[in-house]
Amino acid sequence: MRSHYCGQINESLLDQQVFLCGWVHRRRDHGGLIFIDLRDREGLVQVVFDPETADAFAMAEKVRSEYVLRITGIVRYRPEGTENSNLSSGKVEVLTQKVEIFNSADTPPFQLDEEHMNVSEEIRLRHRYIDLRRPKMQQRLQLRAKVNSFLRNFLDQDGFLEIETPMLTKATPEGARDYLVPSRTHDGQFFALPQSPQLFKQLLMMSGMERYYQIVRCFRDEDLRADRQPEFTQLDIEMSFIDETAIKQLMESMIRQLFKEILNQELPDPFPSMTYEEAMRRYGSDKPDLRVPLELVDVGDLLTDVEFKVFAKPAQDSEGRVAALCIPNGNSLSRKKIDEYTKFVGIYGAKGLAYIKVNQDGLQSPILKFLPEEAIKEILERTKAETGSLIFFGADKAKVVNEALGALRVKVAEDMELVEAGWKPLWVVDFPMFEKDGKNWTSLHHPFTAPDVDDIETQPGACLSRAYDMILNGSEIGGGSIRIHDPEMQAAVFRVLGIEEQEAQEKFGFLLDALNYGCPPHGGLAFGLDRLVMLMAGADSIRDVIAFPKTQTASCLLTSAPSAVSQEQLRELHIRLRQ
Ligand code: AMO
Ligand code: AMP
Repeated sequence: MRSHYCGQINESLLDQQVFLCGWVHRRRDHGGLIFIDLRDREGLVQVVFDPETADAFAMAEKVRSEYVLRITGIVRYRPEGTENSNLSSGKVEVLTQKVEIFNSADTPPFQLDEEHMNVSEEIRLRHRYIDLRRPKMQQRLQLRAKVNSFLRNFLDQDGFLEIETPMLTKATPEGARDYLVPSRTHDGQFFALPQSPQLFKQLLMMSGMERYYQIVRCFRDEDLRADRQPEFTQLDIEMSFIDETAIKQLMESMIRQLFKEILNQELPDPFPSMTYEEAMRRYGSDKPDLRVPLELVDVGDLLTDVEFKVFAKPAQDSEGRVAALCIPNGNSLSRKKIDEYTKFVGIYGAKGLAYIKVNQDGLQSPILKFLPEEAIKEILERTKAETGSLIFFGADKAKVVNEALGALRVKVAEDMELVEAGWKPLWVVDFPMFEKDGKNWTSLHHPFTAPDVDDIETQPGACLSRAYDMILNGSEIGGGSIRIHDPEMQAAVFRVLGIEEQEAQEKFGFLLDALNYGCPPHGGLAFGLDRLVMLMAGADSIRDVIAFPKTQTASCLLTSAPSAVSQEQLRELHIRLRQ
């Protein structure tokens, strides 16, 4: 049907006859002549209808936006002064000899030009098949396909086997709620959709597969955000007989080559690495955006004895933190802006946002009167404040201060345009093995992650894990660990987590049994493919790089899923709904 894609038409085809198929992007009637921008996957080309070709011209008069056409025509130069340097086909046009209309189209619910793209996401998602026609969305999905293809090739060449694992399975503990599927054949029983293939990929190592990968859908029923979907895609990887150095080297080399190949961007070699402790201390986050030049500075030790209880109390508390965030040229921030930031940190539980402005004529601050001169002097020195700076303070439980100032650091940098350009990858390592959730210990990663010491039970809180996260520009794009391959250690971890032997047997008995039949040392990681492609595409949300994403409330506006089912189906599944 076609000889070329629209976007491929250029001067090299001058005077040749071409056959094009596509959609009417725009139609302009210039009295004497009719112009149509014909669009397909690869771009746009201008098609001209001359009244002298009477049949075609008459049909072009009827044509509207999004009609589907086949054009037969001759490539010629555009008249001087009418070239469009934004289009790869912009120097030429196609003079139509013949037009066929495959299909008409109703007026689309929104225009597909980028300049008219102020429609709500709801309307875009409801008519996703039209939204995906937009050149930008076409490019994003093409990019995604290229990324997939590159990663598959890389791993294939390195001896990884692509192996599929079940979707109808048993719960995997990755920290979210499960999506459940009722069993028709087993009354009252349920499958869980995988939160990740974690247990199966470990079993595959025990099966001697050595190197596994899979581009795999994972399901997590959790609170959604711009970078979280209820179903998302992992590039999931596992290797036997390796340690963290080897796997990190291989993985960062894969990402480096990916960026070189697809975006022609150089990433550092090696990626910098930082401990969890340092990341929290300097950035208040375990996924710091290193493009932001601001850092948190501890000042609690200077404030343990001050009268100002807001600072003194957390300064004395072993779980508290008092930290400062110095913003160069921040003293230009208005009262209103500071109030806005105070509200912003409130989202993270901060009860206020004290500050000191360093003005030409001295310091300005609502808390000056509460602080001894000596402490202020030391704070100015430590934060390297200069005339024009503003210092924000967070004082609370360390968790609150880290989250509040960590988020504020990025927000202020965005507002003040301090975010540097480019790519800043980072490994974060030496995570705590366990964290306290109320009275109980929980795994920071997942319970199959190996600890870096043999004795984990005397002081669980002091124990580090052999886990590693790959961060890019403040986004966690991947995470993994060396796994436990010793049944004794696995049992000890369950004991710390308060998982009874019987419960462990019910939940992961198959894995625990397998550990007893010759398990190699192994480890791996999983990339969030949606996040990776989102960053590479410069998109703001992973929804923009997923063909058919779900909304914030985990529904699909296009198909209206989830939806009710018939009484008959429910009965077959042994389910009765509560009214
Ligand atoms: P983890 O839970 O860190 O590790 O997931 C790996 C990566 O998947 C991405 N991700 C998500 N992306 C979109 N929407 C979500 N809801 C979502 N949740 C996670 C993140 C994350 O880094 N089995 C382990 C991996 C391993 O240990 O090998 C796991 O699933 O980019
Ligand atoms: P107050 O004594 O409550 O009026 O607070 C005096 C200043 O300290 C105000 O600027 C508050 O925003 C700030 N502030 C109050 N609580 C905190 C906190 N937990 N961390 C940082 N600043 C705070």
